[in-house]
Amino acid sequence: MSKKAELHYNGKVYEVPVVIGTENENAIDISKLRGKSGLITLDRGFKNTGSCESAITFLDGEEGVLRYRGYSIEELAEKSTFLEVAFLLIYSELPTREELDAFTKDISEHSLVHEDVRSILDGFPSKAHPMGVLSSLVSSLTAFYPKSLDPNRSVEQINGTVIRAIAKLPTLAAWSYKNRVRQPIVYPKNNLSYSANFMQMMFALPTTDYVVSPVITKAIDKLLILHADHEQNCSTSTVRVVGSSHASLYASVSAGIAALWGPLHGGANQAVIEMLEAIRIDGGDVDKYVAKAKDKDDAFRLMGFGHRVYKSFDPRATIIKKAADDVLKELNINDPVLEIAKRLEEVALDDDYFKSRNLYPNVDFYSGIIYRALGIPTDMFTVMFALGRLPGWIAQWKEMRENHEPIGRPRQVYTGSKERKYVPIESR
Ligand code: SDX
Repeated sequence: MSKKAELHYNGKVYEVPVVIGTENENAIDISKLRGKSGLITLDRGFKNTGSCESAITFLDGEEGVLRYRGYSIEELAEKSTFLEVAFLLIYSELPTREELDAFTKDISEHSLVHEDVRSILDGFPSKAHPMGVLSSLVSSLTAFYPKSLDPNRSVEQINGTVIRAIAKLPTLAAWSYKNRVRQPIVYPKNNLSYSANFMQMMFALPTTDYVVSPVITKAIDKLLILHADHEQNCSTSTVRVVGSSHASLYASVSAGIAALWGPLHGGANQAVIEMLEAIRIDGGDVDKYVAKAKDKDDAFRLMGFGHRVYKSFDPRATIIKKAADDVLKELNINDPVLEIAKRLEEVALDDDYFKSRNLYPNVDFYSGIIYRALGIPTDMFTVMFALGRLPGWIAQWKEMRENHEPIGRPRQVYTGSKERKYVPIESR
C-alpha cells in the first residue's frame, strides 16, 4: 500500500511518497526531495527522522510496546534465554533445539582471545574506565582476525565474525574489569552458561573457586535480554553508520561501545547509581533533587528519567523494577538506594514538570540497583549494557549490509561566513 504527501513551497507543489510500515508507521520518503525542490530537511538529533527500514525491533513509545522480531519483551524476558534471543535478533527466527545447541557450542568454543590481547590490556592503567578498554580491545580483534576486515566476504565468513564477537565480548569485558582491579585475568570455561562464564571470569580468583549462583546468572540473563536491541538508538545508529562505510563488524561495534558510554545513553545506568548515592549521602532529600532537575539554571538532570521514544513508560523499566525487588529479596539485601529510587519515582511521577514532558523512568533507572546487588562494580554497569546490546548491534549491522544501504552521509544547513579573501598575517 502506498500513499503520497504534498509539499507546497514557493508557489510549487511537490509530491513525495509515503512509506508505510507493518505497524502502520507512516514516513515521508524525502530521498529525492532535494533533486526535485532544492530543499533538504533539518532535524537536530534526528528526533523525527527515520534512517532506515528495519525488520528487527518494533517500539511504540506511546503504548510502551517493545518487540524483538514480533515477540514481546515481556514474553522473552520471562520465557527465553539471552543466547536464544541473540539468535532470534541475528537470524530473524527463534532457533530449534538443534540450532540453539549448535549456536551455544560455537560460542563456547570461540570464547578465548589471542594471548597477545593480554599485552594490549597491560598497556592500560588501572584507572582506565572499562568502557574505554573494551572499545579498544574489540577494535583490536581486527588485528587478530584480518579476514573480518572485508564485510563483503561469504555468509560463512561473516557468520564466523558474528560468532567470535558474541563469544569474545564477555571475555574482553571481564578482562577490562580485572585490569581495573589489578587482579589476574580468568579464562573462559566451555562448560558454563554464557552468564555464568562471564561472572566467573569477573570474580574468580586463583585462591578460591568461584561458585556461580543460579539466582545471579538468571538475573544477568534477564538483564541481557532486556538490553538486547532497541531499534535506532544512538549507539545502534553509530554501528549502522560506521558499518555503512564497509568498515568491519568489530570496528563498528567498537564505535557503538564508545557511543553507548555517554551518560545520556548507556552511561546513564552508572550515573543513576552515582546520583542515588549522592542523594543518600546528602540525607535522602528527594524533593531537593527533583527541584534541581526542574531548575533550568541547574545542569542537574534526573538520570534514568526520560526517553526519546517512550512517552508513557519504558516496558523494560517495569520488568527491571520487579526483578530488582525479587533479586534483593532472594539475596536478602536491603539497599537503601532502592528505597530512594522508589521515592524519587513517586515524587517525579506526581510532578507536573515530569508529567507534562512525559518523563518516566527508563531502562537505566533500576538496572544499576540489580547490578549492584549482583556484585557488579558501578563502572562496569555500562559494560553490562554493551554485553546485552551486542546481538542488537550485530543484527542491525547485518541488516544494513544485507540491504546494501548507502553510506550514511547527512547534509547540513551552512551558517558560517560567506566567501571572503585571504588576508596576509601582516595585515590582520
Ligand atoms: C538509553 O534511544 C534509546 O532507545 C536509548 C536506550 C536504549 O535502549 O538504547 O533506551 C537507552 O539511552 C535510555 C536513556 C538514558 N539516559 C538518561 O537517563 C539520561 C537522562 N535523560 C535525558 O537526558 C533525556 O531524557 C534523554 C537524553 C533520554 C532524551 O532526551 P531528548 O529526547 O533529547 O529530550 P530533551 O533533552 O529535549 O528533553 C525534553 C525536555 C527538556 O525540557 P524543556 O527544554 O522542554 O523545558 O525534558 C527535559 C529537558 O530539559 N528533560 C529532563 C530530563 N530529560 C529530559 N529534565 C530533567 N531530568 C531529565 N532526565
